[in-house]
Amino acid sequence: MAREPFGTAPDGQGVELITLTNANGVELRAMTYGAIIVSLKVPDRNGVLGDVVLGYDSLAGYVKSSPYFGAIVGRYGNRIAKGKFTLDGQTYTLAVNNGPNSLHGGLRGFDKVVWHADTMRTADGVGIRFHYVSKDGEEGYPGTLSVTVTYTLTDANDVQIAYEATTDKATPVNLTQHAYFNLAGSGDILGHELQINAGVITPVDSTLIPDGSLMPVQGTPFDFTTPHRIGERIGADHEQLRFGGGYDHNFVLIRSDTTLKHAAVLRDSASGRVLGVFTTEPGVQFYSGNFLDGTLSGKNGTVYQHRTGLCLETQHYPDSPNQPQFPSTILRPGETLRSQTVWKFRAE
Ligand code: GLA
Repeated sequence: MAREPFGTAPDGQGVELITLTNANGVELRAMTYGAIIVSLKVPDRNGVLGDVVLGYDSLAGYVKSSPYFGAIVGRYGNRIAKGKFTLDGQTYTLAVNNGPNSLHGGLRGFDKVVWHADTMRTADGVGIRFHYVSKDGEEGYPGTLSVTVTYTLTDANDVQIAYEATTDKATPVNLTQHAYFNLAGSGDILGHELQINAGVITPVDSTLIPDGSLMPVQGTPFDFTTPHRIGERIGADHEQLRFGGGYDHNFVLIRSDTTLKHAAVLRDSASGRVLGVFTTEPGVQFYSGNFLDGTLSGKNGTVYQHRTGLCLETQHYPDSPNQPQFPSTILRPGETLRSQTVWKFRAE
């Protein structure tokens, strides 16, 4: 484990970069700004390490313009319709920063604040415990929210992400990790194979707010219950693909309880790298990098073209605070939110 200065955030706070390395040489680097995973180097089938996440070489890139590369997103990941919700009879107004809606926590969400960080060694690996206290009223949300996010890199090449939160007033909370994966390390992700353990999605309107229904995936381009190349059906004539500009949807995970369950498998047959995603969350937002358009230059000057990365954001459903039939995202005083997601890397 190593810590080094990584520049200064816009609010004047120093930012640190922390490097975790496991017994196999797998390396995860994360910084205190946004608890962002800056790089993640995992082996291909020949044992060659490659960086499988998109991002920038320096803090400046992230501060200037980042579509949430590698960040922890909160207080509410995904969209809240019209930036409004009513809780216990009171209406709250959030910044509208995505068409008519509020996206990913508002103007200065958890991806843009400096977190406190402690490093740790556990029985099965090395880790970073990030902590952030979001003030009552921050970005319009009620209650002081105390959040801990722990990244553990194990010697089995797992990255475990554990979330904990408490509040002093009822508030919606939906935390997720917004890494953009490219298991090949370059090119687009259309050749990656994906399997998602979901029989329905929550279909959206043209502003990507769920209409409240559940759409069975069977017989549609959204059926990833068996592995499919992402590019295979992404251009199909389907209203949901038109609304999303590709895949940008919440897949409802098949689960019988709230324990850690297999959510998805992502496979790049060229490199042999395979990512298994496990989570306690009820959904996963599969986002195929549709808004990447060649305007951002990332690590080593790489231009991030359309669909050079994809996200598998394990989370609750979008707009849950306005959709009473969805699993609740409300955290109340006295309760502790606990959530876990694990990325299991292997090569075949
Ligand atoms: C999420 C959203 C997308 C997009 C990205 C960031 O995946 O669902 O619509 O906003 O974040 O660009």
